[in-house]
Amino acid sequence: GRYGSSGGVASTTMNVTNTPAKDLAYTNCGYCSPTDIRNFLVPGSKFAYALIADAFVLTLAAHDAIPNGQLGLNAIQRRYAKVSTGDAISVSRFVPPEDFNLALLTLDLEFVKKGTKEEQVDAVSLANQVRKRFANQIMTTGQKVTLEYHGNGYIVTVNQATVEGQEKSNVERGMVSADTYIIFEAANSSGIKIVNQREAASSSIFRQKEFNLESLGIGGLGAEFSDIFRRAFASRVFPPHVTSKLGIKHVKGMLLHGPPGTGKTLMARQIGKMLNGKEPKIVNGPEVLSKFVGETEKNVRDLFADAEQDQKTKGDQSELHVIIFDEIDAICKSRGSTRDGTGVHDSIVNQLLTKIDGVESLNNVLLIGMTNRKDLLDEALMRPGRLEVQVEISLPDENGRLQILQIHTNKMKENSFLSPDVNLQELAARTKNYSGAELEGVVKSAVSYALNRQLSMDDLTKPVDEESIKVTMDDFLHAINEVRPAFGASTDDLERCRLVFLFFVYN
Ligand SMILES: Nc1ncnc2c1ncn2[C@@H]1O[C@H](COP(=O)(O)OP(=O)(O)OP(=O)(O)O)[C@@H](O)[C@H]1O
Ligand SMILES: [Mg+2]
Repeated sequence: GRYGSSGGVASTTMNVTNTPAKDLAYTNCGYCSPTDIRNFLVPGSKFAYALIADAFVLTLAAHDAIPNGQLGLNAIQRRYAKVSTGDAISVSRFVPPEDFNLALLTLDLEFVKKGTKEEQVDAVSLANQVRKRFANQIMTTGQKVTLEYHGNGYIVTVNQATVEGQEKSNVERGMVSADTYIIFEAANSSGIKIVNQREAASSSIFRQKEFNLESLGIGGLGAEFSDIFRRAFASRVFPPHVTSKLGIKHVKGMLLHGPPGTGKTLMARQIGKMLNGKEPKIVNGPEVLSKFVGETEKNVRDLFADAEQDQKTKGDQSELHVIIFDEIDAICKSRGSTRDGTGVHDSIVNQLLTKIDGVESLNNVLLIGMTNRKDLLDEALMRPGRLEVQVEISLPDENGRLQILQIHTNKMKENSFLSPDVNLQELAARTKNYSGAELEGVVKSAVSYALNRQLSMDDLTKPVDEESIKVTMDDFLHAINEVRPAFGASTDDLERCRLVFLFFVYN
Protein backbone atom coordinates (compact mmCIF):
# COMPACT_ATOMS: atom_id res chain seq x y z
CA GLY A 1 0.00 0.00 0.00
CA ARG A 2 0.84 3.64 0.01
CA TYR A 3 2.15 3.55 3.57
CA GLY A 4 4.41 0.61 3.01
CA SER A 5 3.71 -3.05 3.34
CA SER A 6 4.91 -6.04 5.20
CA GLY A 7 5.97 -7.54 1.88
CA GLY A 8 3.83 -10.58 2.41
CA VAL A 9 5.50 -11.48 5.67
CA ALA A 10 3.02 -11.93 8.46
CA SER A 11 3.79 -10.27 11.73
CA THR A 12 5.80 -12.26 14.20
CA THR A 13 6.16 -11.95 17.91
CA MET A 14 9.46 -11.10 19.49
CA ASN A 15 10.53 -10.61 23.06
CA VAL A 16 11.54 -7.17 24.15
CA THR A 17 14.97 -6.69 25.62
CA ASN A 18 17.18 -3.70 26.25
CA THR A 19 19.43 -2.02 23.71
CA PRO A 20 22.64 -4.10 23.68
CA ALA A 21 25.03 -1.26 24.50
CA LYS A 22 24.59 2.07 26.20
CA ASP A 23 25.88 4.18 23.33
CA LEU A 24 23.36 2.52 21.00
CA ALA A 25 20.44 4.04 22.92
CA TYR A 26 20.68 7.17 20.79
CA THR A 27 20.67 5.59 17.35
CA ASN A 28 16.88 5.13 17.25
CA CYS A 29 17.45 1.67 15.73
CA GLY A 30 15.99 -1.57 16.98
CA TYR A 31 18.43 -4.46 17.51
CA CYS A 32 18.03 -8.12 16.70
CA SER A 33 20.21 -11.14 16.08
CA PRO A 34 22.18 -11.49 12.83
CA THR A 35 19.90 -14.41 11.92
CA ASP A 36 16.63 -12.63 12.60
CA ILE A 37 17.56 -9.56 10.60
CA ARG A 38 17.28 -11.51 7.35
CA ASN A 39 13.52 -11.59 7.84
CA PHE A 40 13.41 -7.82 7.71
CA LEU A 41 15.75 -6.87 4.90
CA VAL A 42 14.19 -4.86 2.12
CA PRO A 43 14.79 -6.86 -1.07
CA GLY A 44 17.66 -5.40 -3.05
CA SER A 45 18.86 -3.10 -0.29
CA LYS A 46 21.01 -3.20 2.82
CA PHE A 47 18.24 -1.77 4.99
CA ALA A 48 15.94 -3.64 7.30
CA TYR A 49 12.79 -2.06 8.63
CA ALA A 50 10.30 -3.33 11.15
CA LEU A 51 6.83 -2.11 11.91
CA ILE A 52 6.66 -2.28 15.70
CA ALA A 53 3.38 -2.90 17.48
CA ASP A 54 1.56 -1.53 14.45
CA ALA A 55 2.62 1.93 15.61
CA PHE A 56 5.99 2.98 14.25
CA VAL A 57 8.77 1.79 12.00
CA LEU A 58 12.35 1.29 13.15
CA THR A 59 15.48 0.61 11.19
CA LEU A 60 16.81 -2.71 12.44
CA ALA A 61 20.47 -3.44 13.03
CA ALA A 62 22.05 -6.79 13.78
CA HIS A 63 23.95 -7.27 17.04
CA ASP A 64 25.78 -10.38 18.24
CA ALA A 65 24.70 -9.84 21.82
CA ILE A 66 21.01 -10.24 20.96
CA PRO A 67 19.71 -13.83 20.96
CA ASN A 68 17.32 -15.02 18.28
CA GLY A 69 13.71 -14.03 18.82
CA GLN A 70 14.56 -10.94 20.82
CA LEU A 71 14.29 -7.28 19.94
CA GLY A 72 16.41 -4.65 21.66
CA LEU A 73 14.60 -1.36 22.24
CA ASN A 74 15.68 1.62 24.31
CA ALA A 75 13.62 2.95 27.18
CA ILE A 76 11.85 5.62 25.14
CA GLN A 77 10.97 3.20 22.35
CA ARG A 78 9.62 0.76 24.91
CA ARG A 79 7.60 3.43 26.60
CA TYR A 80 6.14 4.57 23.31
CA ALA A 81 5.29 0.97 22.33
CA LYS A 82 3.87 0.47 25.83
CA VAL A 83 6.02 -2.57 26.61
CA SER A 84 8.65 -3.52 29.16
CA THR A 85 11.61 -5.85 28.80
CA GLY A 86 10.46 -9.46 28.71
CA ASP A 87 7.12 -8.56 27.07
CA ALA A 88 6.10 -9.97 23.71
CA ILE A 89 5.67 -7.48 20.87
CA SER A 90 4.35 -7.84 17.34
CA VAL A 91 6.88 -7.05 14.66
CA SER A 92 6.57 -7.22 10.90
CA ARG A 93 8.77 -6.46 7.97
CA PHE A 94 8.16 -3.03 6.49
CA VAL A 95 8.87 -2.26 2.87
CA PRO A 96 8.88 1.46 2.16
CA PRO A 97 6.75 2.48 -0.81
CA GLU A 98 8.01 4.57 -3.71
CA ASP A 99 8.45 8.31 -3.21
CA PHE A 100 8.57 8.01 0.52
CA ASN A 101 10.97 10.84 1.30
CA LEU A 102 9.85 13.37 3.86
CA ALA A 103 9.46 16.92 2.62
CA LEU A 104 8.87 18.23 6.08
CA LEU A 105 9.44 17.02 9.56
CA THR A 106 8.36 18.96 12.62
CA LEU A 107 10.05 17.85 15.81
CA ASP A 108 9.28 18.83 19.35
CA LEU A 109 12.25 18.86 21.70
CA GLU A 110 12.47 18.25 25.40
CA PHE A 111 15.27 17.21 27.69
CA VAL A 112 15.44 13.58 28.79
CA LYS A 113 16.19 14.91 32.24
CA LYS A 114 13.68 17.63 32.73
CA GLY A 115 15.01 20.16 35.12
CA THR A 116 16.11 23.69 35.47
CA LYS A 117 18.61 23.50 32.65
CA GLU A 118 18.48 26.09 29.90
CA GLU A 119 19.95 25.46 26.49
CA GLN A 120 20.10 27.27 23.20
CA VAL A 121 19.77 25.00 20.23
CA ASP A 122 20.94 26.05 16.82
CA ALA A 123 18.25 24.86 14.43
CA VAL A 124 20.45 24.76 11.35
CA SER A 125 23.17 22.70 12.95
CA LEU A 126 20.74 20.37 14.71
CA ALA A 127 18.79 19.83 11.50
CA ASN A 128 22.00 18.76 9.78
CA GLN A 129 22.70 16.34 12.61
CA VAL A 130 19.23 14.86 12.48
CA ARG A 131 19.37 14.39 8.72
CA LYS A 132 22.75 12.69 9.02
CA ARG A 133 22.11 10.54 12.04
CA PHE A 134 18.65 9.42 11.11
CA ALA A 135 19.30 9.16 7.38
CA ASN A 136 16.96 6.61 5.79
CA GLN A 137 15.08 6.13 9.02
CA ILE A 138 11.32 6.25 8.93
CA MET A 139 9.51 8.71 11.15
CA THR A 140 5.85 8.43 12.12
CA THR A 141 3.85 11.24 13.70
CA GLY A 142 3.56 10.78 17.42
CA GLN A 143 6.73 8.71 17.57
CA LYS A 144 9.28 9.48 20.25
CA VAL A 145 12.96 9.42 19.42
CA THR A 146 16.00 9.88 21.60
CA LEU A 147 18.74 12.16 20.39
CA GLU A 148 22.08 13.22 21.79
CA TYR A 149 23.33 16.63 20.83
CA HIS A 150 26.21 18.60 22.34
CA GLY A 151 26.27 16.41 25.42
CA ASN A 152 22.54 16.70 26.12
CA GLY A 153 19.98 13.94 25.85
CA TYR A 154 16.74 14.96 24.14
CA ILE A 155 13.41 13.30 23.65
CA VAL A 156 12.08 14.24 20.26
CA THR A 157 8.40 13.91 19.42
CA VAL A 158 7.47 13.76 15.75
CA ASN A 159 4.68 16.32 15.38
CA GLN A 160 4.42 16.34 11.64
CA ALA A 161 5.87 14.09 8.96
CA THR A 162 4.82 15.15 5.50
CA VAL A 163 5.72 13.33 2.34
CA GLU A 164 5.57 15.27 -0.89
CA GLY A 165 2.23 14.85 -2.60
CA GLN A 166 0.89 12.58 0.12
CA GLU A 167 -2.63 13.32 1.17
CA LYS A 168 -3.32 13.95 4.80
CA SER A 169 -4.17 10.78 6.63
CA ASN A 170 -4.11 9.30 10.09
CA VAL A 171 -0.76 7.66 9.59
CA GLU A 172 1.76 10.24 8.61
CA ARG A 173 5.17 8.74 8.02
CA GLY A 174 8.09 8.96 5.68
CA MET A 175 11.82 8.58 5.31
CA VAL A 176 14.39 11.12 6.43
CA SER A 177 16.45 12.24 3.47
CA ALA A 178 19.08 14.86 2.76
CA ASP A 179 16.30 17.12 1.46
CA THR A 180 13.97 16.80 4.42
CA TYR A 181 13.16 20.19 5.82
CA ILE A 182 13.14 20.13 9.61
CA ILE A 183 11.40 22.52 11.94
CA PHE A 184 12.06 22.36 15.66
CA GLU A 185 9.62 23.30 18.32
CA ALA A 186 9.98 23.46 22.07
CA ALA A 187 7.47 24.30 24.73
CA ASN A 188 8.21 27.46 26.68
CA SER A 189 8.55 25.45 29.84
CA SER A 190 11.12 23.06 28.35
CA GLY A 191 14.08 25.35 28.96
CA ILE A 192 15.07 24.91 25.33
CA LYS A 193 15.40 27.95 23.15
CA ILE A 194 15.60 27.32 19.45
CA VAL A 195 17.64 29.87 17.60
CA ASN A 196 18.63 30.42 14.02
CA GLN A 197 15.51 28.93 12.55
CA ARG A 198 15.62 31.74 10.08
CA GLU A 199 13.96 30.06 7.17
CA ALA A 200 11.13 28.83 9.29
CA ALA A 201 10.68 32.21 10.90
CA SER A 202 6.99 32.00 10.27
CA SER A 203 6.69 28.82 12.30
CA SER A 204 7.05 31.03 15.30
CA ILE A 205 3.80 32.73 14.36
CA PHE A 206 2.43 31.56 17.65
CA ARG A 207 3.66 32.89 20.90
CA GLN A 208 3.27 29.60 22.67
CA LYS A 209 2.74 26.23 21.21
CA GLU A 210 -0.25 25.46 23.29
CA PHE A 211 -2.10 28.64 23.94
CA ASN A 212 -4.67 28.46 26.62
CA LEU A 213 -7.99 29.84 25.45
CA GLU A 214 -9.42 29.83 28.91
CA SER A 215 -6.64 32.07 30.17
CA LEU A 216 -7.55 34.44 27.35
CA GLY A 217 -11.10 34.49 28.64
CA ILE A 218 -12.54 32.61 25.69
CA GLY A 219 -14.78 29.67 26.51
CA GLY A 220 -16.26 26.85 24.47
CA LEU A 221 -14.57 27.68 21.20
CA GLY A 222 -11.70 25.20 21.25
CA ALA A 223 -12.88 23.28 18.21
CA GLU A 224 -13.49 26.48 16.24
CA PHE A 225 -10.07 27.75 17.18
CA SER A 226 -8.33 24.61 15.97
CA ASP A 227 -10.23 24.94 12.72
CA ILE A 228 -9.21 28.52 12.34
CA PHE A 229 -5.59 27.87 13.05
CA ARG A 230 -5.35 24.77 10.95
CA ARG A 231 -6.94 26.44 7.95
CA ALA A 232 -5.36 29.85 8.28
CA PHE A 233 -1.97 29.32 9.79
CA ALA A 234 -0.88 25.71 9.29
CA SER A 235 0.39 26.31 5.77
CA ARG A 236 2.25 29.40 6.92
CA VAL A 237 4.76 27.48 8.97
CA PHE A 238 6.30 26.03 5.83
CA PRO A 239 9.22 27.89 4.35
CA PRO A 240 8.61 29.04 0.77
CA HIS A 241 10.61 26.29 -0.91
CA VAL A 242 8.59 23.63 0.87
CA THR A 243 5.23 25.25 0.16
CA SER A 244 6.07 25.35 -3.51
CA LYS A 245 7.11 21.67 -3.41
CA LEU A 246 3.91 20.70 -1.68
CA GLY A 247 1.90 22.92 -3.97
CA ILE A 248 0.32 24.76 -1.07
CA LYS A 249 -1.44 28.04 -1.52
CA HIS A 250 -2.00 29.98 1.63
CA VAL A 251 -5.50 30.83 2.69
CA LYS A 252 -5.71 34.60 2.38
CA GLY A 253 -9.00 35.23 4.03
CA MET A 254 -11.50 33.72 6.37
CA LEU A 255 -14.90 34.62 7.69
CA LEU A 256 -16.10 34.02 11.22
CA HIS A 257 -19.84 34.21 11.37
CA GLY A 258 -22.49 33.40 13.92
CA PRO A 259 -25.16 34.83 16.16
CA PRO A 260 -24.58 37.95 18.27
CA GLY A 261 -22.73 37.64 21.54
CA THR A 262 -20.90 34.40 20.76
CA GLY A 263 -17.44 35.86 21.18
CA LYS A 264 -16.41 36.96 17.70
CA THR A 265 -15.23 40.39 18.73
CA LEU A 266 -13.65 38.87 21.82
CA MET A 267 -11.65 36.53 19.60
CA ALA A 268 -10.63 39.35 17.32
CA ARG A 269 -9.18 41.17 20.29
CA GLN A 270 -7.39 38.08 21.60
CA ILE A 271 -5.96 36.62 18.40
CA GLY A 272 -3.22 39.23 18.56
CA LYS A 273 -2.16 37.92 21.95
CA MET A 274 -1.45 34.55 20.41
CA LEU A 275 0.55 35.74 17.47
CA ASN A 276 4.20 36.48 17.63
CA GLY A 277 5.58 39.62 16.15
CA LYS A 278 3.29 42.06 14.43
CA GLU A 279 0.09 42.84 16.20
CA PRO A 280 -2.82 42.30 13.88
CA LYS A 281 -4.63 45.34 12.59
CA ILE A 282 -8.10 45.31 14.03
CA VAL A 283 -10.77 47.51 12.55
CA ASN A 284 -14.50 47.39 12.50
CA GLY A 285 -16.77 48.11 9.61
CA PRO A 286 -18.61 51.16 10.91
CA GLU A 287 -15.33 52.76 11.88
CA VAL A 288 -13.89 52.39 8.38
CA LEU A 289 -16.97 53.89 6.80
CA SER A 290 -16.62 57.56 6.10
CA LYS A 291 -19.21 59.98 4.89
CA PHE A 292 -16.68 61.64 2.64
CA VAL A 293 -16.52 60.53 -0.95
CA GLY A 294 -13.67 58.14 -1.59
CA GLU A 295 -12.53 58.25 2.00
CA THR A 296 -13.76 54.76 2.86
CA GLU A 297 -11.91 53.27 -0.11
CA LYS A 298 -8.81 55.05 1.05
CA ASN A 299 -9.27 53.64 4.57
CA VAL A 300 -9.51 50.16 3.09
CA ARG A 301 -6.39 50.74 0.98
CA ASP A 302 -4.48 52.05 3.98
CA LEU A 303 -5.16 48.86 5.87
CA PHE A 304 -3.02 46.97 3.41
CA ALA A 305 -0.28 49.56 3.04
CA ASP A 306 2.16 48.04 5.54
CA ALA A 307 1.80 44.59 4.08
CA GLU A 308 2.44 45.94 0.60
CA GLN A 309 5.52 47.78 1.76
CA ASP A 310 6.83 44.61 3.41
CA GLN A 311 6.18 42.54 0.33
CA LYS A 312 8.04 45.07 -1.79
CA THR A 313 11.12 45.23 0.37
CA LYS A 314 11.30 41.67 1.73
CA GLY A 315 9.48 39.59 -0.86
CA ASP A 316 9.00 36.01 0.24
CA GLN A 317 10.65 36.73 3.56
CA SER A 318 7.96 39.20 4.52
CA GLU A 319 6.21 38.28 7.71
CA LEU A 320 2.52 37.63 7.95
CA HIS A 321 0.19 40.61 8.29
CA VAL A 322 -3.07 39.73 9.96
CA ILE A 323 -5.95 42.11 9.34
CA ILE A 324 -9.06 41.56 11.38
CA PHE A 325 -12.18 43.15 10.05
CA ASP A 326 -14.93 43.04 12.65
CA GLU A 327 -18.52 43.73 11.55
CA ILE A 328 -17.44 43.47 7.97
CA ASP A 329 -21.10 43.44 6.86
CA ALA A 330 -21.18 47.18 7.48
CA ILE A 331 -19.06 47.79 4.42
CA CYS A 332 -19.41 44.62 2.39
CA LYS A 333 -23.12 44.43 1.81
CA SER A 334 -24.02 42.84 -1.50
CA ARG A 335 -23.27 45.15 -4.33
CA GLY A 336 -26.37 46.78 -5.70
CA SER A 337 -28.29 45.90 -2.53
CA THR A 338 -28.16 49.30 -0.95
CA ARG A 339 -30.77 51.67 -2.23
CA ASP A 340 -28.93 54.91 -1.88
CA GLY A 341 -28.14 54.63 -5.56
CA THR A 342 -24.65 56.02 -5.09
CA GLY A 343 -22.89 52.73 -5.63
CA VAL A 344 -20.60 53.68 -2.78
CA HIS A 345 -20.75 50.21 -1.29
CA ASP A 346 -19.98 48.66 -4.65
CA SER A 347 -16.73 50.49 -4.94
CA ILE A 348 -15.75 49.63 -1.38
CA VAL A 349 -16.34 45.94 -2.00
CA ASN A 350 -14.40 46.21 -5.23
CA GLN A 351 -11.56 47.91 -3.44
CA LEU A 352 -11.38 45.11 -0.90
CA LEU A 353 -11.53 42.43 -3.59
CA THR A 354 -8.71 44.11 -5.46
CA LYS A 355 -6.58 44.07 -2.38
CA ILE A 356 -7.26 40.41 -1.67
CA ASP A 357 -6.90 38.91 -5.12
CA GLY A 358 -6.39 41.64 -7.65
CA VAL A 359 -3.34 42.28 -9.78
CA GLU A 360 -1.48 43.68 -6.82
CA SER A 361 -2.49 40.72 -4.71
CA LEU A 362 -0.40 39.93 -1.66
CA ASN A 363 0.78 36.65 -0.26
CA ASN A 364 1.65 37.97 3.16
CA VAL A 365 -1.83 38.95 4.25
CA LEU A 366 -4.45 37.09 6.18
CA LEU A 367 -7.77 38.88 6.31
CA ILE A 368 -10.20 37.68 8.97
CA GLY A 369 -13.70 39.08 8.59
CA MET A 370 -16.35 38.74 11.25
CA THR A 371 -20.08 39.17 11.04
CA ASN A 372 -23.39 38.14 12.51
CA ARG A 373 -25.09 38.80 9.19
CA LYS A 374 -23.41 36.51 6.72
CA ASP A 375 -26.58 36.66 4.66
CA LEU A 376 -25.95 40.32 3.91
CA LEU A 377 -22.44 39.84 2.59
CA ASP A 378 -21.55 40.14 -1.05
CA GLU A 379 -21.26 36.62 -2.48
CA ALA A 380 -18.17 37.54 -4.42
CA LEU A 381 -16.33 38.06 -1.17
CA MET A 382 -16.65 34.40 -0.27
CA ARG A 383 -15.27 32.85 -3.42
CA PRO A 384 -12.05 30.81 -3.40
CA GLY A 385 -9.00 32.93 -2.84
CA ARG A 386 -10.98 35.47 -0.86
CA LEU A 387 -12.73 34.89 2.47
CA GLU A 388 -12.80 31.28 1.41
CA VAL A 389 -12.67 29.60 4.79
CA GLN A 390 -15.83 30.11 6.75
CA VAL A 391 -16.02 29.12 10.36
CA GLU A 392 -19.28 29.28 12.19
CA ILE A 393 -19.10 30.54 15.73
CA SER A 394 -22.28 29.04 17.05
CA LEU A 395 -24.01 29.17 20.40
CA PRO A 396 -22.02 27.27 23.01
CA ASP A 397 -22.95 23.70 23.92
CA GLU A 398 -23.28 22.64 27.54
CA ASN A 399 -19.59 22.13 27.99
CA GLY A 400 -18.86 25.46 26.35
CA ARG A 401 -21.37 27.15 28.63
CA LEU A 402 -19.64 25.64 31.64
CA GLN A 403 -16.31 27.01 30.46
CA ILE A 404 -17.81 30.45 29.87
CA LEU A 405 -19.47 30.48 33.29
CA GLN A 406 -16.18 29.44 34.85
CA ILE A 407 -14.36 32.24 33.08
CA HIS A 408 -16.82 34.87 34.23
CA THR A 409 -16.99 33.63 37.83
CA ASN A 410 -13.29 33.02 38.22
CA LYS A 411 -12.50 36.31 39.92
CA MET A 412 -15.25 36.06 42.50
CA LYS A 413 -14.29 32.48 43.20
CA GLU A 414 -10.67 33.47 43.80
CA ASN A 415 -11.82 36.13 46.21
CA SER A 416 -14.26 33.72 47.89
CA PHE A 417 -17.35 35.65 46.89
CA LEU A 418 -18.80 32.57 45.25
CA SER A 419 -20.89 30.51 47.62
CA PRO A 420 -19.91 26.82 47.69
CA ASP A 421 -23.46 25.80 46.78
CA VAL A 422 -23.13 27.28 43.29
CA ASN A 423 -23.16 24.42 40.82
CA LEU A 424 -21.90 25.73 37.50
CA GLN A 425 -22.42 22.37 35.84
CA GLU A 426 -26.11 22.53 36.62
CA LEU A 427 -26.32 26.14 35.47
CA ALA A 428 -24.68 25.15 32.21
CA ALA A 429 -27.31 22.45 31.79
CA ARG A 430 -30.10 24.94 32.41
CA THR A 431 -28.93 27.61 30.00
CA LYS A 432 -29.57 26.03 26.63
CA ASN A 433 -29.46 28.58 23.80
CA TYR A 434 -27.71 31.22 25.89
CA SER A 435 -24.87 32.98 24.10
CA GLY A 436 -21.58 33.83 25.77
CA ALA A 437 -22.69 37.42 26.20
CA GLU A 438 -25.97 36.28 27.77
CA LEU A 439 -24.11 34.01 30.18
CA GLU A 440 -21.98 36.96 31.16
CA GLY A 441 -25.27 38.80 31.70
CA VAL A 442 -26.50 36.00 33.95
CA VAL A 443 -23.39 36.31 36.10
CA LYS A 444 -23.82 40.08 36.33
CA SER A 445 -27.45 39.70 37.31
CA ALA A 446 -26.61 37.10 39.98
CA VAL A 447 -24.01 39.44 41.41
CA SER A 448 -26.53 42.25 41.55
CA TYR A 449 -28.85 40.10 43.68
CA ALA A 450 -26.02 39.29 46.05
CA LEU A 451 -24.94 42.91 46.35
CA ASN A 452 -28.47 44.02 46.87
CA ARG A 453 -28.76 41.80 49.92
CA GLN A 454 -25.92 43.70 51.54
CA LEU A 455 -27.50 47.09 51.05
CA SER A 456 -29.77 48.45 53.61
CA MET A 457 -32.46 50.43 51.83
CA ASP A 458 -33.00 52.56 54.89
CA ASP A 459 -29.46 53.67 55.10
CA LEU A 460 -27.45 53.56 51.91
CA THR A 461 -24.49 55.15 53.65
CA LYS A 462 -24.09 52.24 56.01
CA PRO A 463 -20.74 50.57 55.23
CA VAL A 464 -21.03 47.29 53.36
CA ASP A 465 -19.62 44.25 55.04
CA GLU A 466 -17.43 43.05 52.17
CA GLU A 467 -16.51 39.78 53.78
CA SER A 468 -20.05 38.54 53.79
CA ILE A 469 -20.86 39.15 50.13
CA LYS A 470 -21.70 35.75 48.71
CA VAL A 471 -23.21 35.00 45.33
CA THR A 472 -25.38 31.95 45.83
CA MET A 473 -27.01 29.33 43.62
CA ASP A 474 -30.32 31.02 44.33
CA ASP A 475 -28.97 34.28 42.91
CA PHE A 476 -28.01 32.44 39.76
CA LEU A 477 -31.42 30.80 39.44
CA HIS A 478 -33.08 34.20 39.74
CA ALA A 479 -30.62 35.53 37.18
CA ILE A 480 -31.54 32.80 34.70
CA ASN A 481 -35.13 33.88 34.97
CA GLU A 482 -34.19 37.48 34.46
CA VAL A 483 -31.81 37.12 31.52
CA ARG A 484 -33.55 35.22 28.74
CA PRO A 485 -31.74 33.99 25.66
CA ALA A 486 -32.51 35.73 22.39
CA PHE A 487 -32.76 32.42 20.60
CA GLY A 488 -35.80 30.96 22.28
CA ALA A 489 -36.49 29.61 25.72
CA SER A 490 -34.34 26.94 27.21
CA THR A 491 -37.14 24.40 27.46
CA ASP A 492 -36.93 21.55 25.09
CA ASP A 493 -38.41 22.94 21.90
CA LEU A 494 -38.82 19.56 20.29
CA GLU A 495 -40.73 18.17 23.20
CA ARG A 496 -43.08 21.15 23.11
CA CYS A 497 -43.70 20.73 19.39
CA ARG A 498 -44.56 17.13 19.97
CA LEU A 499 -47.07 18.00 22.68
CA VAL A 500 -48.70 20.64 20.53
CA PHE A 501 -48.86 18.17 17.70
CA LEU A 502 -50.49 15.51 19.90
CA PHE A 503 -52.95 18.09 21.15
CA PHE A 504 -54.10 18.85 17.62
CA VAL A 505 -54.19 15.25 16.55
CA TYR A 506 -56.29 14.07 19.43
CA ASN A 507 -58.72 16.96 19.78
N1 LIG B 1 -17.16 32.29 24.09
C1 LIG B 1 -17.12 33.22 25.05
N2 LIG B 1 -16.34 33.04 26.14
C2 LIG B 1 -16.30 33.97 27.11
N3 LIG B 1 -16.99 35.09 27.09
C3 LIG B 1 -17.78 35.34 26.04
C4 LIG B 1 -17.89 34.41 24.96
N4 LIG B 1 -18.75 34.90 24.04
C5 LIG B 1 -19.15 36.09 24.52
N5 LIG B 1 -18.59 36.36 25.71
C6 LIG B 1 -18.79 37.58 26.52
O1 LIG B 1 -19.71 38.39 25.86
C7 LIG B 1 -19.11 39.62 25.45
C8 LIG B 1 -19.63 40.02 24.09
O2 LIG B 1 -19.22 39.10 23.11
P1 LIG B 1 -18.68 39.59 21.68
O3 LIG B 1 -18.76 41.05 21.57
O4 LIG B 1 -17.37 38.98 21.44
O5 LIG B 1 -19.77 38.93 20.73
P2 LIG B 1 -19.86 38.99 19.14
O6 LIG B 1 -19.86 37.59 18.67
O7 LIG B 1 -18.83 39.91 18.61
O8 LIG B 1 -21.30 39.59 18.93
P3 LIG B 1 -21.83 40.48 17.71
O9 LIG B 1 -22.11 39.52 16.60
O10 LIG B 1 -23.08 41.07 18.25
O11 LIG B 1 -20.78 41.48 17.38
C9 LIG B 1 -17.63 39.35 25.46
O12 LIG B 1 -16.89 40.51 25.67
C10 LIG B 1 -17.50 38.36 26.60
O13 LIG B 1 -17.46 39.02 27.84
MG1 LIG C 1 -18.93 41.70 17.58
